[in-house]
Amino acid sequence: MRKPFVAGNWKMNKSLSEAAELAKGVADATAGLNGVEVVIAPVSLCLASVIDAVGSTHVGVSAQNMHWAEQGAYTGELSPTMLKEAGCGYVILGHSERRELFGEGDEFIHRKLRSALNHGLVPILCIGETLEEREAGKTQQKVDFQIRAALSGIAADDVADIVIAYEPIWAIGTGRTASPQQAQEVHGAIRELLTTMYDGSIASRCRILYGGSVKPANIDDLISQPDIDGALVGGASLKVDSFAAIAKACA
Ligand code: 13P
Repeated sequence: MRKPFVAGNWKMNKSLSEAAELAKGVADATAGLNGVEVVIAPVSLCLASVIDAVGSTHVGVSAQNMHWAEQGAYTGELSPTMLKEAGCGYVILGHSERRELFGEGDEFIHRKLRSALNHGLVPILCIGETLEEREAGKTQQKVDFQIRAALSGIAADDVADIVIAYEPIWAIGTGRTASPQQAQEVHGAIRELLTTMYDGSIASRCRILYGGSVKPANIDDLISQPDIDGALVGGASLKVDSFAAIAKACA
């Protein structure tokens, strides 16, 4: 059985004081929910204060990005050892905003993923197609390519612990969600790909999240699909009530 997983990607939102308050609110509102792993991803400036705010509660904290090196001349970057020392357990890698707006390529994402695993951070690997790719019937091709590139040479046991987030780019921040059937079709194909690349037991352990305009109103239909194991939530994670409602629906 895969434990459902709900992560809030706060993107470039919330100041230091706002972030600590939201984190506390999430910890309180989701207290006692045993059947779901709850993770929040504030901006890097707020990681330490959010980790402090959630303390020893059930809420995990994720970075939104990282460099693969442990230190060095990489202006503006954060290293896996820094994240670990701060108390982060997870890191989002390859978000479409990093890929599309900041030019991050598959090779970079692969190096980051390998480094995260080497440093004991759980990677939340994001993949997904553009609207043009979907309309051209190239969704699966794109998603397969991104997964193969990111996981190239990664040991099977490590792959089972990775969280994959399928986020169709056309559904992010647009209010336009993939239908549960559209999402399930891609999630099912991702699990088949993992079965081909590794084996059925690895594929059945790996959690695959859906992301893209997830709200309390659409989470029930999404989470009821057999291969959707949770959600990576953007806008709706910025309010305690909506994020907690999504976590409860997945628990
Ligand atoms: P929205 O939920 O705002 O569409 O964002 C999704 C996302 O990009 C999460 O990483």
